[in-house]
Amino acid sequence: MKTRVFSGMQPSGNLHIGNYLGALKNWVRIQSEYECIFCIVDLHAITLYQGPAELRAKIDEIAALYLAAGIDPKVCSIMVQSAVPEHAELAWMLTCVTPVGWLERMTQYKAKAARQESVGDGLLQYPVLMAADILLYQAGIVPVGEDQAQHVELTRDIAQRFNSLYGETFVVPGTSLPAVGARIMGLDDPAQKMSKSETAANHAVALLDPPDKIRKAIMRATTDSNPAVDYETAGPGVLNLLAIYQAFSGAPDAEMKARFTGLRYGELKKQVADMAIAHLEPFQERYRRIVSEPGYLAGVLRGGAERVAPLAAATVRMVKERMGLYV
Ligand code: AMP
Ligand code: TRP
Repeated sequence: MKTRVFSGMQPSGNLHIGNYLGALKNWVRIQSEYECIFCIVDLHAITLYQGPAELRAKIDEIAALYLAAGIDPKVCSIMVQSAVPEHAELAWMLTCVTPVGWLERMTQYKAKAARQESVGDGLLQYPVLMAADILLYQAGIVPVGEDQAQHVELTRDIAQRFNSLYGETFVVPGTSLPAVGARIMGLDDPAQKMSKSETAANHAVALLDPPDKIRKAIMRATTDSNPAVDYETAGPGVLNLLAIYQAFSGAPDAEMKARFTGLRYGELKKQVADMAIAHLEPFQERYRRIVSEPGYLAGVLRGGAERVAPLAAATVRMVKERMGLYV
């Protein structure tokens, strides 16, 4: 049996090149090697308030972006989290074996909670729901960007704790990070990771940004006081631009060094912008084709949910039996 892969993205904000290079591009690369489930995690999105109409529209947008990136719905299951009720059901069982202290230690929780006046319980439970997503399908591999590695670690801890309390039940999953692009930084501030919730102009390149906007954001990216690329002394802004180029192009390290050493920053940025636009223009063309086809997306999402539903039901049944719940 092929190892199962599970990953997902939240339908909130605009997907950017960090999401693409850190996660989505990797999903496309491994999709035929494993049995893949790619989810649109709407139950995670509502841990922070989302306007209902916007949320509903975002779910379709993310699904179309998965497809535009090259995820093949004939090979993978593309599904919406709330279409399969067992995600929420299993999350409850896992909540009951998870110490609050583990959740309070999560860096993402601490950062998000610090920005709220009153912290919703869902924000604290967020990683337990993520653990449920993964364990529900007995996934062995979780391809994500670096910021999610701590949540996958926690998933391993929850799985092991459950297994030791109730007997071997869950596959303990591993994280898969891309070699380059696991943490793309903000163009305006290379000390912060590129983030969907950051609204400053020129912070991110969104996957659906028009070419002139992409070029502008990259040309204005923060660099450092060197005049040209020097791999030994380059600051984080320059390393970030090089990582973006390398992750898009797949160029090996030696080729990167030969190409960019000594190049002035203006020229570096121009080449990074050209590379990003060369990838994103055809991507956007595919996106427009997908959303203009009536009924197509809805069919893909329905098909995905139908395909995974029996797997989810089987796991929850087993968990209920192990725990002595009513089956
Ligand atoms: P999210 O935007 O939080 O739904 O994240 C979706 C996926 O994109 C996850 O696998 C994240 O780890 C990944 N990701 C988000 N931001 C970045 C970033 N700046 N660099 C690399 N990967 C990222
Ligand atoms: N928390 C992830 C993020 O924000 C999204 C997510 C939810 C996820 N469930 C998952 C990722 C399961 C991988 C596996 O990026």
